[in-house]
Formats: sequence, structure tokens, C-alpha cells
Amino acid sequence: MIEANNDAFNKLWELNPEITFNIAEGFNGISREAQIPAILEFLNIPYTGSDPITLGICHEKSRAKEILSYYKIPTPEFLVVYPYDDYLNIDFSLPAIVKPVAEGSSKGIFNSSVVFSIDELKNQINYIHLNYNQPALVEKFLSGREFTVAILGNGKSAKVLPIIEIKFDQLPKTILPIYSYEAKWILDTRENPLDIYECPAKIDDDLRQKIEKVALRTFNVLRCRDWARIDIRLDENGIPNVLEINPLPGILPDPKDNSCFPKAARTAGMNYQEMINAVLNEAIKRYGL
Ligand SMILES: Nc1ncnc2c1ncn2[C@@H]1O[C@H](COP(=O)(O)OP(=O)(O)O)[C@@H](O)[C@H]1O
Ligand SMILES: [Mg+2]
Repeated sequence: MIEANNDAFNKLWELNPEITFNIAEGFNGISREAQIPAILEFLNIPYTGSDPITLGICHEKSRAKEILSYYKIPTPEFLVVYPYDDYLNIDFSLPAIVKPVAEGSSKGIFNSSVVFSIDELKNQINYIHLNYNQPALVEKFLSGREFTVAILGNGKSAKVLPIIEIKFDQLPKTILPIYSYEAKWILDTRENPLDIYECPAKIDDDLRQKIEKVALRTFNVLRCRDWARIDIRLDENGIPNVLEINPLPGILPDPKDNSCFPKAARTAGMNYQEMINAVLNEAIKRYGL
């Protein structure tokens, strides 16, 4: 185990491992998830998962959405707002959701992030600028069902694991149907777990195929490697839209802690160890080790 701190470079250099299983999220800056993989590339040490370019782009959600748009993969309409930008002429209708442009784990995403008026929009954009020191990502709010898709593999042989649906009916009626900070970390605890994942999702074959297709295409156009998890939500026409790509998905080991990738892997018949080894094996194959 090497902590991804200031000593990491020297430790990796001295140890010179055959391969590294990367789970480092980094501390500083919008490209923080790219930093340890960049060091590993510098040192010529093979590692699991996506390269620094993909990790950086996916962490900066608006950049990833620009690429999705180029490939005509549906993603909610959006606007990136820096402090002092003029954002009052957004060309899509409210409600919108306002998020930090580069966070994860629902940081900065609360019930109040969904805005129904220009006043609320202003407040929420200010809130992001003041508290997260980064641009705000304003997105059209999609009210449809939400899914998350874990993927294992590379290129044409990448495979989807069983799809998870986020069941908002498990949340109190007083809060909005989003997988917010409240839903992930406050309402869902070990003592009082929320039964919020349905895996495999109860969907018909047609929708399943559409979701799988869009997830795999997203994985490939973002040039993800070995594994990733794609968050998807249906728009008002039932079309799967990509919310974001997680090339470094959370993998809490204890089944009591809700964690999507391990949950999908368990549903596919893999225990935690087998899931980790499956990711590692994809990297080993990719490097030809
Ligand atoms: N455009 C949107 N429309 C509806 N819900 C959204 C939208 N964007 C985000 N959400 C909700 O907020 C949650 C967290 O957003 P996400 O972009 O996945 O951030 P994180 O990186 O923190 O997981 C999503 O799982 C979803 O429930
Ligand atoms: Mg997400």
C-alpha cells in the first residue's frame, strides 16, 4: 500500500513495482485524479485504469460533456459559469441542477441544488463559487429514472455488469429525486441503511439495450481503460442521457456500505477479491504482461 501523498513519488521509484492498482483520488486541483497516474507514466510503471488525460477530462464534467456532444451521445444541456459570467440568458428551461464542475461523491450536490427560479439559480451558483472555489456547472434537470452502469474490460471486449437503478422512492417524500449528498451520506448510514439500489434494474430488454449501448459507447469515446462506472438518467422522452463518467469508481469493500461497482460485481457473481483481480487482469492483458 502506498499512500498517494508527498512521499509517493520516491516510494514508487524505489519500489518500482511490476504493476500498480491505482485508487488515488489526489488532493489538489481539478486534475487531481490524474496526478498519480501521471507520476506512474513518468516512472514507466504500469497501472490499472484510465490514463491521466481521461481521468482529468472525466473529473472536469463539462469537458467530458463536450466530448459526448461531439459524438452525439445524449447528455443534459449545460452551461459552465465562472464568477462574474453572465448566465442569465441560459437557453434551456428551468428546473436546472447546479453542481461543482469537478467534484465527486455528491460533494456540493444537495436538495437545494435543484433550482426552479432565476433567484434560486443565482444563489446556488454563488454558493458553488464561494464554497468550492471552481466554476459551477448548470445542467438541465432530468426527471426520469436513474441508472448507473459498471463496465469491465477494454475496447470492443468491454462488458457491462448488471445495471443498477437508483430507487428514489426509498428517499423521504420531502426531498427531491436526486442522489444528493444527503441521500448518499446522511440518510444512508450503516445503522439505518437505505435500500436504494435495485440490481439488476427492473427494465425491459429495449431499455436495457439502449442503456448498455450508450454506456459502452461513452466508455470508448472517453477512452476509458479496464473499468469505469457511467451515471445515466432518462430525459422526459425516456432517452438515456449520460450524467457523468467515473473512471475511478468508488469501491467500498463492505456490502453494508452502499457502493455501486462492488454491488454490480456481486450481482454478476464476483466477490470483492474477484472484482479487484478482474480489473487487475484487464490491465495485465492490456500491457501484455
Ligand atoms: N442533469 C441532472 N438531472 C437530474 N439529476 C441530476 C443531474 N445531474 C446530477 N443529478 C443528480 O445528482 C447526482 C449526483 O450528480 P453527479 O453528476 O453524478 O455527481 P457526483 O460526481 O457527485 O456523483 C446524480 O446521481 C443525480 O441523481
Ligand atoms: Mg455520480
